[in-house]
Amino acid sequence: MALLHAGLRSALSSSGCFQAIGHGISSPFLDQVRAAATQFFALPVEEKQKYSREVHGGREGYGNDVIVSDKQVLDWSYRLILQVFPEDQRRLDLWPENPNDFGEVVHEYATKIKFMMGLLYKAMAKSLNLEENSFSDQLLGEQALMQARFNFYPQCSRADQVLGVKPHTDRSGITVLLQDKEVEGLQVLVDGKWVRVPIVPHAIVVNLGDQMQIMSNGIFKSPMHRVVTNPERMRLSVALFNEPDPETEIGPVEKLIDETRPRLYKNVKNYGHINYECYQRGEVALETVKI
Ligand code: SIN
Ligand code: FE2
Repeated sequence: MALLHAGLRSALSSSGCFQAIGHGISSPFLDQVRAAATQFFALPVEEKQKYSREVHGGREGYGNDVIVSDKQVLDWSYRLILQVFPEDQRRLDLWPENPNDFGEVVHEYATKIKFMMGLLYKAMAKSLNLEENSFSDQLLGEQALMQARFNFYPQCSRADQVLGVKPHTDRSGITVLLQDKEVEGLQVLVDGKWVRVPIVPHAIVVNLGDQMQIMSNGIFKSPMHRVVTNPERMRLSVALFNEPDPETEIGPVEKLIDETRPRLYKNVKNYGHINYECYQRGEVALETVKI
């Protein structure tokens, strides 16, 4: 176990991500999650528009980038965004009824991933010699948020010039990403170079978000990543983002602050919102909470 913690610490303080295997979620079930998403995106446009973000207002639902300026470079992707936890905050009018097992599959998947995130937060705390709930108390409390984002990237004839998702860091504590089974696209910036994230059968990609970088006082990294497009093939991915509820204040864990490592970030509430606004404006959200 000590070795495992050392490995975790070294991965998360360098690239900020890793591929999880042995997570206990069966491959047929992961295929079911992919299939539910694939079937939704394959529906006729009119059908998908029923769940459109523009029609319903707010950030959830189906659509492309929210347009905030005519200079904006748009991502080559369609998305379905749903709040999954807390359960009583679900906007069920935006949950697809077709395929008819969509809701059930997403609920089961998110429940399993939430459990896995709990184990990861504990392992991360232990890897830094902290009390095991040092991260999970805030990040995964009763009212913690879990958002699901289903991404569909159509094939793109200008793949050399168009990105599926522009470079960004996630606002989450942890993001868990189920990649397409065959088509790569995700790249992570490591030491100034874009590194492709290969498809590993049965693996789930785990990457940290800004809120974990803040809480770990910069020891763990929230990696910059992007998605490239493919000229021949479409790609699908399913991301689950965990973050604390907007009222919970987060900040660097006290034990990770000392003379050799001064506090790097202010305490902050509702970081998810700050990050969202910054992303829309093309600004770096972490800069706004730096000391
Ligand atoms: C994202 O980081 O927003 C999407 C990741 C992916 O599709 O691989
Ligand atoms: Fe991301």
